Amino acid sequence: MLIRNCWYVAGWSHDFAADAPVQRQLLGDPVVLWRKSDGTMVAMEDRCVHRLAPLSLGRIEGDHLRCMYHGLLFDSAGRCKEIPGQDMIPSNACVRTYPVVERNNWIWVWMGDPAKADPSRIAKSKALDDPAWVLKTGELHYEAHYELINDNLLDLTHLAYVHANSFGAGPAWAQSRPKVEVIPEGVRSSRWISNTPPVPPLSKAAEHDRVDIWTSYDFVLPGVFLLYTAMFPPGTADACGNGPPPADLPTLFANFTSQAVTPTSETTTSYYYSWGPASEHGDEAMAQAMIDVAGMAFHEDKVMIEAQQKIINRNPATRPMPTTADKAITIFTRLMQSQDA
Ligand code: FES
Ligand SMILES: [Fe+2]
Repeated sequence: MLIRNCWYVAGWSHDFAADAPVQRQLLGDPVVLWRKSDGTMVAMEDRCVHRLAPLSLGRIEGDHLRCMYHGLLFDSAGRCKEIPGQDMIPSNACVRTYPVVERNNWIWVWMGDPAKADPSRIAKSKALDDPAWVLKTGELHYEAHYELINDNLLDLTHLAYVHANSFGAGPAWAQSRPKVEVIPEGVRSSRWISNTPPVPPLSKAAEHDRVDIWTSYDFVLPGVFLLYTAMFPPGTADACGNGPPPADLPTLFANFTSQAVTPTSETTTSYYYSWGPASEHGDEAMAQAMIDVAGMAFHEDKVMIEAQQKIINRNPATRPMPTTADKAITIFTRLMQSQDA
């Protein structure tokens, strides 16, 4: 199931230069993304009305995009404004456009009914220049259905197995269960991992053999993962009654990651992520080291999920058997099914 009435991440702001249209597949549709002369983004169906050539092979001319097959010129509303050698422009010479917003260094495209495109529904990711964080970026492309990647992010017990090497995650990730709550447009999963080695061992948290880790993420429609992790001296979880730490409690280390899962088709998915330390705890070098580890870890996910997809493809009727770790998956799946597709 692909849900059209949602904001999807189509890539990083820095992927879209002023002078180069870019093609993206979103929900199975070819979309051309380009910038007008003032830098604002335009998203259009990547198909010229004439002989159906891709407009992403076209040329940006100020606030217009010219198809470089036979030269038809389109404005940012998709209307044809010029047909070389022909005065009459048919009234149906119009390319579909999609609502698009550039926010927090991501390009968000609304693939559904334009009348329902409400920018307040865009997930609350962090901007790369947020002074509280030092963030680096990455992306990955999957031969797998997006729901398998959502499921992976909604159940972090897999850290103990898939990411034992990259993230150095201990068995506590699989043995304890998070508190799972329904939030607007998604689900929140929070917990303490107590008395565990610091991960990553890069900061002043490394002065401690063991730490208490508070980890809390929101996973919101259509598939955006926003994770805050903080480390404290052992005993902090108990002192907090195993609830959220006070916002002003000093941390040994803290980091934040925004991750977006975007179905490019029914069988393929793009994955965009940023990660890095709180600026009080880390610098550019640490942020780079963290994003390198994250890249390694996400490749571990990709190996598992693409192999899982191949098994599912052999017999799609076979149903999974949920465990108690699947609570957030169950809630989020129901939320997806309730959406106006
Ligand atoms: S296909 Fe675009 S101008 Fe002919
Ligand atoms: Fe993972």
